[in-house]
Amino acid sequence: MSARVPVITVDGPSGVGKGTLCQWLANRLGFHLLDSGALYRLTALAALRRNLALEDESQVAAVAAGLEVEFLAVTEGAPRIVLEGETVGDELRSETCGNAASRIAALPAVRAALLQRQRDFRQPPGLIADGRDMGTVVFPDANLKLFLTASAEERTHRRHKQLNEQGMNANLKNLADEIAKRDARDSQRAAAPLRPAADAETLDTTRLSIAEVCNWALMRTRRRLGLPKNS
Ligand code: DC
Repeated sequence: MSARVPVITVDGPSGVGKGTLCQWLANRLGFHLLDSGALYRLTALAALRRNLALEDESQVAAVAAGLEVEFLAVTEGAPRIVLEGETVGDELRSETCGNAASRIAALPAVRAALLQRQRDFRQPPGLIADGRDMGTVVFPDANLKLFLTASAEERTHRRHKQLNEQGMNANLKNLADEIAKRDARDSQRAAAPLRPAADAETLDTTRLSIAEVCNWALMRTRRRLGLPKNS
């Protein structure tokens, strides 16, 4: 799609609240949403279902390249995700799947296989892109690049609350360990490590409410895209 279609990138570590912000912003502006983490989770899930070793780079990359997935818009909340004809929900959001996603995401061939699929989400009237390398690798020419941070403790609490709300059990101590492991893997890998783009605007959300974070992002988006105050 034309590089002129506006794109706003939102990057940051696990549990920082990118998903909530991106869904809200996309909904508010009537923009498309790219949940790039879901593509890595779906690849991991499809690889696990085929009993592949998660370190098998060429096989997992082939799964990523051939991923048969649909994101179906629903009236409110996250889209319904259909993998190979079957709706996937809780399984995709589980920490097991998140960790598997983080492992396969370190493989350069897997990232390369998902690159164009992510760029194809850039459709009019605009895109909100949620991930780890949206501003650095996937959309280096984005109109606006945001980067969210929060303390590891706060992110553990947020993820715990979210999992509980979805009816999934999570032990706080295990969750803290898994988030720490995932942070280390995502930011220390050689291929597209988690880091803010040089031209990103960073916000520490540790002590902020969801509404405050949304408002911060909306104000910057309006200003950058020249949108009216009531948009
Ligand atoms: O955002 P998430 O928790 O759904 O992402 C799951 C994993 O996928 C995350 O630990 C790292 C990886 N990922 C990535 O490497 N690059 C992205 N753009 C998005 C996610």
